[in-house]
Amino acid sequence: MRTWLAALLCSTHTLLTVAQFLPLREYAGQSFFDGWDYYGFYDNTTWGNVTYLDQPDAVSQRLTYVNSAGNAVVKVDNTTNVADGPLVYRNSIRLTTKDAYGVGTLVIFDALHMPYGCSVWPSFWTLGSLKKWPHGGEIDIVEGINMMDRNQMALHTDPGCFQSPNPVQSGDTLETNCSLDRGCIVGENKPNSYGPGFAQAGGGVWATQWDDTGVFIWFWGRADIPDNIKSATSTSSLDVSTWGQPSASYPAAGCNIEQFFDPQQLVILITLCGVWAGIPDIYSSTCHTPKNSCYADNIIGPGSPTYDEAYFEIPYIRVYQASNSTQSGGPSATQSGASTVVQTVLTTLPAAQTTLPTLASGSTRVTYSITGLTLLSMLLFWSAF
Ligand SMILES: *[C@@H]1O[C@H](CO)[C@@H](O)[C@H](O)[C@H]1NC(C)=O
Ligand SMILES: *[C@@H]1O[C@H](CO)[C@@H](O)[C@H](O)[C@H]1NC(C)=O
Ligand SMILES: *[C@@H]1O[C@H](CO)[C@@H](O)[C@H](O)[C@H]1NC(C)=O
Ligand SMILES: *[C@@H]1O[C@H](CO)[C@@H](O)[C@H](O)[C@H]1NC(C)=O
Ligand SMILES: *[C@@H]1O[C@H](CO)[C@@H](O)[C@H](O)[C@H]1NC(C)=O
Repeated sequence: MRTWLAALLCSTHTLLTVAQFLPLREYAGQSFFDGWDYYGFYDNTTWGNVTYLDQPDAVSQRLTYVNSAGNAVVKVDNTTNVADGPLVYRNSIRLTTKDAYGVGTLVIFDALHMPYGCSVWPSFWTLGSLKKWPHGGEIDIVEGINMMDRNQMALHTDPGCFQSPNPVQSGDTLETNCSLDRGCIVGENKPNSYGPGFAQAGGGVWATQWDDTGVFIWFWGRADIPDNIKSATSTSSLDVSTWGQPSASYPAAGCNIEQFFDPQQLVILITLCGVWAGIPDIYSSTCHTPKNSCYADNIIGPGSPTYDEAYFEIPYIRVYQASNSTQSGGPSATQSGASTVVQTVLTTLPAAQTTLPTLASGSTRVTYSITGLTLLSMLLFWSAF
């Protein structure tokens, strides 16, 4: 018995030293849209010329649906003829997850296509929404505008969070101060990370890890996706240690993640024009349209073919929890989806861990995790006899 226990403790220790993440939640297939809230208001954050529909209108106008391949589609209206006027809006979508995910999370975002074209400004990002922006922190994972051909990543926080010098990353640092308006930006270097090139390459995958060690974002085009992600199912664990250099790294040395990041909700949206894509100089740097006007040349009119490519097609989004995580009971819920998530945790972790109170110090945390994992190992071991 003593030898068994020693062996169990040993294997538990191994588990804790690899960068292992356990599956927590999947958004995919027919139930993809169940875990999200629809904005149901015009764009009052980046002042794009769009109305983000509520769920009934989004469904009836087919701006969100699951296609015949089983993938979630999120799109801009390309069937309405929008007339010029004092205020011009085209229908689009902004989705926010019902659940928020704390420090110690990994998110895998797989897309076959993402929106592009003049005036189009799509994003996939996370937002600490319990406090007024940006006090809860924000992680921009996918973002681009107009005819850009590379993705851009960023953090937005309160003053005091920076990207530390010489981070191990393949992207280019464009700004290191995360509390400036534009955030601490890293430009993607990999081709096909945005726009038509992304779609032609069959899309790709982003992995985003935020935990005590920092925030890390990886991107791979379809052909380069790591084996453990390609072969993963909704119930697989993931080890991030084999993935090599991230595209963007924000090590904790420059930013205390616990301090600057509240539990994060995931956001998918597509706006048009607004305070980035619609700025005349920025617009004209990649778009050359007759009136040289973001709204007049795009928003106004029939919508097709202008917005035929303005859609996300998403096979899945998966959320994982660090195997040593402090998130007792899983993500902190902001709304009703919570019980589903806790249930998911219970199927992957022993109850001993999921019912722990929130713990304050790192060392206490690890002790409790070992206890939980050891209990799991022992249960598995005993049930095998
Ligand atoms: C917990 O796991 C994450 C990811 O595997 C790792 O980065 C972090 O250092 C670990 N933290 C502790 C306290 O072991
Ligand atoms: C945008 O509008 C919504 C709905 O009225 C409101 O709850 C939210 O506070 C507004 N956001 C900003 C940044 O004004
Ligand atoms: C586009 O939207 C912005 C923000 O709502 C608004 O100020 C502007 O008037 C709109 N443009 C037109 C032509 O309606
Ligand atoms: C970072 O940006 C903040 C504005 O949020 C500014 O007050 C601060 O001086 C900047 N820090 C550095 C080192 O540039
Ligand atoms: C609108 O866009 C979709 C793809 O997003 C395309 O299938 C359709 O043909 C486009 N045009 C119209 C008028 O619906």
